[in-house]
Amino acid sequence: MKIATLRRIAVALVVTLVCLTLASCTGGTSTGGKTLVGISMPTKSIQRWETDGENMRKGFEDAGYATMVEFANDDTAQQVSQLENMINKGCKAIVVAAVDSVSLSSVLEQAKNKGIFIISYDRLLTDTPNVDFYVTFNNKKVGSEMALYVEKTLDLANAAGPINMEISSGPPSDNNAGLIYGGMMEVLQPYIDSGVVVIPSGQTTAEQTAIDNWELANSQTRMENLLNGFYTDKKINIAICANDTTGRGAANAIIAAGYTPGAADYPIITGQDCETASVQYIIDGKQGMSIFKDTRTLGDQAIKATISLLNGTAPDQNDVSNNKVFDVPTYNCDLIAVTKDNYKEVLVDGGYYTLADLGL
Ligand code: GAL
Repeated sequence: MKIATLRRIAVALVVTLVCLTLASCTGGTSTGGKTLVGISMPTKSIQRWETDGENMRKGFEDAGYATMVEFANDDTAQQVSQLENMINKGCKAIVVAAVDSVSLSSVLEQAKNKGIFIISYDRLLTDTPNVDFYVTFNNKKVGSEMALYVEKTLDLANAAGPINMEISSGPPSDNNAGLIYGGMMEVLQPYIDSGVVVIPSGQTTAEQTAIDNWELANSQTRMENLLNGFYTDKKINIAICANDTTGRGAANAIIAAGYTPGAADYPIITGQDCETASVQYIIDGKQGMSIFKDTRTLGDQAIKATISLLNGTAPDQNDVSNNKVFDVPTYNCDLIAVTKDNYKEVLVDGGYYTLADLGL
């Protein structure tokens, strides 16, 4: 054999070896030989998802995996193409918090056909058999904790009423929205039925009260319209809002309409996620409470479940969630209601935020 040919073979062998040891070379993605995991989050426009994505990136990388993290800008088409890219780049497992719980069926089927594990994160992937595990919080409890706070603060059990309330729900495209609404209504419906609580707008269902994309601006505009349309001769006493962005939007509209935080007639406003801006609203008396869902715990559970699946073992499970096709094995993490009284203990002493994060 010619020296030149031998040299070429030697070079090819070295390149192949380098490729095999330094990278999986699947679809051109260099993973340093590590198993690649996809993390598909719905948006960056809400604080928690950025934290969720970053926590998981770090956790998976610390555990020896390579990651691909994408945020879908609240756009289903974008999330589908990001997921297709993860499939093509050779991900072996993908953690997904869907923009739209029902719309990923066909891309999930593609993933399943390639033997990729799918972990549904926070929001249940519905209408598909192609989900291996679900990690979440008890979303019905999220709603009932908000309503219990309202019930207790206004002593609804002993109130004569009428107490004026408006509801802001999440969008129906998010499976959590209906569960949260269900939890709220389980507590509040008896008070509505007895006339203690009234809803002057008449907008009572999950669909009528839905805020598109959970967006602060949409919630603010809707509350402005409600106040202008139904509250020219009365005060709003409760704005029960399904998360922090909808809560802050409602608070902004309410304050702009002349209500003063801390005053006796300032309404009770709820939220969820303990975003830093909303904890500041709680401190300032603009929002009454939020639900703390520790995304560190959720991320850890997602990582543990993914690693179990990749290792061929069953993840830790404490529940099941029906996704309209089957009972998806589920791990529910704990949640806690946060108010002015316990935010320091829960969020600062718990190491989730520093005082500086909260502007203190
Ligand atoms: C929900 C989630 C909430 C909140 C909301 C807005 O699915 O349960 O924690 O983040 O989305 O993105």
